[in-house]
Amino acid sequence: MKIENRTFVISGGASGLGRATTLDLFAKGGYIAILDLNEELAKQVISATSSSKVRFFETDVTNSEQVAASVKAAAAWSAETKAPFGGIIAAAGVGKPALTYSRQGPLNLDGFKFVIDINLIGTVDLIRNGLEYLTKVDPEGADGERGVVIMVASAAAYEGQSGQLAYSASKGGVVSMTLPMARDLSKYGIRVLTLAPSMFDSPMTEKMPPKVKESLLRSMEFPKRPGKPHEFSQVAIACIESTMLNGEIIRLDGASRMPARL
Ligand SMILES: NC(=O)c1ccc[n+]([C@@H]2O[C@H](COP(=O)([O-])OP(=O)(O)OC[C@H]3O[C@@H](n4cnc5c(N)ncnc54)[C@H](O)[C@@H]3O)[C@@H](O)[C@H]2O)c1
Repeated sequence: MKIENRTFVISGGASGLGRATTLDLFAKGGYIAILDLNEELAKQVISATSSSKVRFFETDVTNSEQVAASVKAAAAWSAETKAPFGGIIAAAGVGKPALTYSRQGPLNLDGFKFVIDINLIGTVDLIRNGLEYLTKVDPEGADGERGVVIMVASAAAYEGQSGQLAYSASKGGVVSMTLPMARDLSKYGIRVLTLAPSMFDSPMTEKMPPKVKESLLRSMEFPKRPGKPHEFSQVAIACIESTMLNGEIIRLDGASRMPARL
């Protein structure tokens, strides 16, 4: 599918992997609606493009009314610019490590729900709201394609480390949704892909203690370094452009398998 003159709704588009995807979609001629909590970072992305083709819609993905209102506003903007919706990219995410049981007692359920609310339910909410519009765009080309949904999981969906119960559960949920969602949406000409990165440079991993980073780096085969945000967005772009990609989870991990403990 062509990116040029299509509008992409991206949660978490103000920072890290989402930011790189915003910038690369813009470079390919796309319009981008950033749905994010962080206005300051979103403004920086917009000024990096010096373009009115990137817009910010302040949104907390755990607030369903806000998600619906922001997606609706993005759809109105896409009608104005005559750049129909082309994709929904759910990249907003957080981690909040906690042990299942520790000296302090059992896992705090509020912390668990916090991660699930953003990473899993926030992902579904963004997508279901976006589909209200994406399913109605004119189909394109011989295949009758309407667009692409991209979700972001993690290698932790497969090799969750100790302390990553909530994060792994949320990302495992994203992995498991990929095929049924692709099957549900095939009749609309909408494809669904999930990207599962290991360690990538971003504000999220900047906060990691050096010992944790070193342990993750030791588990990399090749290349022996964290991924760069642009290497994530390159694959996101390929997912949009290559029509045979559908219903798949793509690991971006330098052949690493994460260790049990960091
Ligand atoms: N960086 C990595 O190593 C890595 C590895 C695997 C998976 N991931 C996943 O990639 C995605 C992007 O992560 P990143 O590394 O770019 O992190 P990041 O912290 O740089 O970006 C996350 C973005 O999500 C936004 N966000 C957080 N909570 C939100 C909410 N409730 N509503 C709206 N926006 C919210 C933040 O404001 C931020 O802009 C996440 O889903 C993360 O779990 C990252």
